[in-house]
Amino acid sequence: MTLEWEKLFAGRVSGMSASEIRELLKLIDRPEIISFAGGIPDADHFPSAAIARAYEKVFQSNTGAGGALQYTISEGYTPLRDWLCGYMDRKGVKIAPDEVLITSGSQQALDFLGKLLIGPGDLVAVTKPTYLGALQAFSPYEPTYVSIAMDEEGPVLADLEAALARKPKFLYLVPDFQNPNGTTVSPARREAIVDLCTKAGVPVIEDAAYAELRYEGDFLPSLAAIDAARNGGVPSQVIHCGSFSKTMVPALRVGWVSGPKDVIQRLVLMKQAADLHTSTINQIVLHDVVSEIFDSHVKRLRTVYKERRDTMLAALEEFMPAGVTWTKPQGGMFVWIELPEGLCGTELLARAIKESNVAFVPGAAFFPDRSGRNTIRLSFSATKPERIREGIRRLADLLVRVSA
Ligand SMILES: Cc1ncc(COP(=O)(O)O)c(C=O)c1O
Repeated sequence: MTLEWEKLFAGRVSGMSASEIRELLKLIDRPEIISFAGGIPDADHFPSAAIARAYEKVFQSNTGAGGALQYTISEGYTPLRDWLCGYMDRKGVKIAPDEVLITSGSQQALDFLGKLLIGPGDLVAVTKPTYLGALQAFSPYEPTYVSIAMDEEGPVLADLEAALARKPKFLYLVPDFQNPNGTTVSPARREAIVDLCTKAGVPVIEDAAYAELRYEGDFLPSLAAIDAARNGGVPSQVIHCGSFSKTMVPALRVGWVSGPKDVIQRLVLMKQAADLHTSTINQIVLHDVVSEIFDSHVKRLRTVYKERRDTMLAALEEFMPAGVTWTKPQGGMFVWIELPEGLCGTELLARAIKESNVAFVPGAAFFPDRSGRNTIRLSFSATKPERIREGIRRLADLLVRVSA
């Protein structure tokens, strides 16, 4: 007799299913496909030589690589946490090493924060759209979402106030060049969000995954920095998640979460339970690399990605038919397209792969309420400029055919 596994699975996993989009995107691994789907950094610009040198250094050190290959503390490699304290300090947030936890990518921090804060039925406030991976991290803890509409300055304040009045457990936000829609929260809106959340006693989870990738304009204070400025320089209301995946490489799987000590202490216990610690050798290597080249490497990435963003925006301007609108991100990896009412992003993807050899991600997946049917996300970071122009031309041609 075969076991009926479905009946054994806990109720909380019922919402976790492979999506039809994932099935479609399996088809895009062909060289003729121009993919705007990924949302990943360009591997040609990884700091591979610096990483190789750092690994060699570990193995050639006097003490041998023993320590680097050993278990370590759950909090994370101390010199890396010290480096992060300096980094956060430069951004206006004073944290001590015990107010930061190294995680296996910032994705793990989102999972831990869900585990720490969400009980079944608890309300969680998110923007619509929001980062799909955050919904995937939170949903197994069985929240109910209250979603806040966005305009070009970020979350709409009237919606935020209405959401806060319902006392959500927290607000989750990606303030810089949001995945998926590229929006950056304006300085005034940042202040207002921290104000309103402080008054309502609702914590904010700030996801700063893309904050370093700014291609124009001034860097804006993080919500953590605004919160800290009101609280003698230390965080009180805002839990800040950061990642080295977009600035260095994703494969080392190193991210971090910083915030009030009480929160971090609990998260350390979760880290112990989940995987004991993030890879010792990867943390050592990453520390070596960021100490050496963080600023220069990120500067180079900004030049590379800016050209791609500019190419995509220019091609959209040149080729897109009337009725299609898009965001103009100041940084990050994403442009968000709104198709004419009545068109469906998922149906368009199926045709785009088949007829035009172009791929992207339909927008509905980024809405907890599955609205946003007529939106799509394009990523420009991992595609060379010539291919970006050609891909947008093909997509625009398809849209002309579809709308005819
Ligand atoms: C907004 C956002 N947060 C977090 C992550 C997770 O990144 P990582 O776990 O690689 O640090 C991503 C990855 O795409 C992201 O887009």
